[in-house]
Amino acid sequence: MQLTASQVAEFERNGYLVLPHFISDSDCIALRDHAAALEDQLRSDLDHVTVFSAGDQAHGDDSWFLTSGDKTRGFFEDDGSSLNKIGHAMHDLDPVFNRFSRDLGFAEVAHSIGFDDPRLVQSMYIFKHPGVGGEVTWHTDHTFLWTQPRSVVGFWVAIDDATVTNGCLWAIPGGHKIPVKSRFVRDGDSTVTHVFDDTPYPIEQAVSIEAKRGTLVLLDGALPHWSDINTSEHPRQAYTLHVVEGAADWDESNWLQRPTMEFQGFS
Ligand code: FE2
Repeated sequence: MQLTASQVAEFERNGYLVLPHFISDSDCIALRDHAAALEDQLRSDLDHVTVFSAGDQAHGDDSWFLTSGDKTRGFFEDDGSSLNKIGHAMHDLDPVFNRFSRDLGFAEVAHSIGFDDPRLVQSMYIFKHPGVGGEVTWHTDHTFLWTQPRSVVGFWVAIDDATVTNGCLWAIPGGHKIPVKSRFVRDGDSTVTHVFDDTPYPIEQAVSIEAKRGTLVLLDGALPHWSDINTSEHPRQAYTLHVVEGAADWDESNWLQRPTMEFQGFS
């Protein structure tokens, strides 16, 4: 699907774009079923209980996280038994995720918003289970997936209906024009966050991005976004792909490195 000129203009103005009905319910449910089976497998691998806490970046000191750029791995919630997410290379390693990532129209969207040589750098299946799904604090994706020049765009797909009560995305319209305030980098076997500007984002301007199953939300890499804990009884599963420009310089201090494989495109 090619975007219209007005959709591209809206993305450039707001830093995000919501595209309802982008993915069919049946494709979403098939991915959800596959992720559930994968979750069962990964949860049984309790030798590797790594808590993913986007609030305090605790995962940054853990080699399970730092070496996951070319793997399919599970990351737990604080309770140590529910999965927070699966990451970060299912789009290349798993046939079901590969098809979902490459055959359902994302490439045309990427070209519409200006990519010449889009490269898929990261996939995440986010569970945000009822009652335990954690908060993802305000951040920009460029902080974590740094290229020179900046190029990362997030492709976020609602696998369940996302609402304000089960932890939908929130974003600051136009916030991608605020200079990125920090950078998360690899530091040996650990990571460190360099803060350039510690002033808070104007979150009073934030809007909720409620999204029905199958909605695609595009997120500019410099757009501040957030999602709350899921205190509801309803799941809020989502799939995200992060795409960068092939000609942009992928910094060797990014946490995500893929010693065993190159970043591939959509085809
Ligand atoms: Fe993000």
